[in-house]
Amino acid sequence: MSSKKIIELKINGENYETVVSGSETLLTVLRDYLDLTGTKRGCNQGVCGACTVIKDDVPVRSCLTIAGFCNSSEVTTVEGLAIDRRLSNLQNAFSENGAVQCGFCISGMLITIKVLLDKVPNPTIDEVREAISGNLCRCSGYKKIIDATLEASRSLNSEELAQ
Ligand code: FES
Ligand code: FES
Repeated sequence: MSSKKIIELKINGENYETVVSGSETLLTVLRDYLDLTGTKRGCNQGVCGACTVIKDDVPVRSCLTIAGFCNSSEVTTVEGLAIDRRLSNLQNAFSENGAVQCGFCISGMLITIKVLLDKVPNPTIDEVREAISGNLCRCSGYKKIIDATLEASRSLNSEELAQ
């Protein structure tokens, strides 16, 4: 696929239209075309999970997702977790538990954990570990990330988590 193509996306509830070409990725569209820079470009080869977003209800690595195949998709990025400029309860749990160090992995972590908690509102510690096993934190802050996730799951019901 080398020719240019117009795609329409619904991102965090807003409609966008953009032109993509060739093997451009969803990550490039988000960060470089639409200025949604909360999604991070880490390894850019599908290993670290920093670029994770939700596409049509499924977490995907946006650095491996060809934008030209995303026409009409619904996408949620970390910018979509806050409502009316207020952090979501999961984000607050991260903040209160000191789960954010350099922060580079955090948007991907939050998206991955949101998907987990939407499906499993009260996960075990092993379920949390397994869910984030594909998200690398170079600061090795896994314990606090897991603590924050478990605290959020204890204090919130599934409806609040869907924010
Ligand atoms: S930037 Fe996509 S997996 Fe690392
Ligand atoms: S907080 Fe630095 S990479 Fe995770």
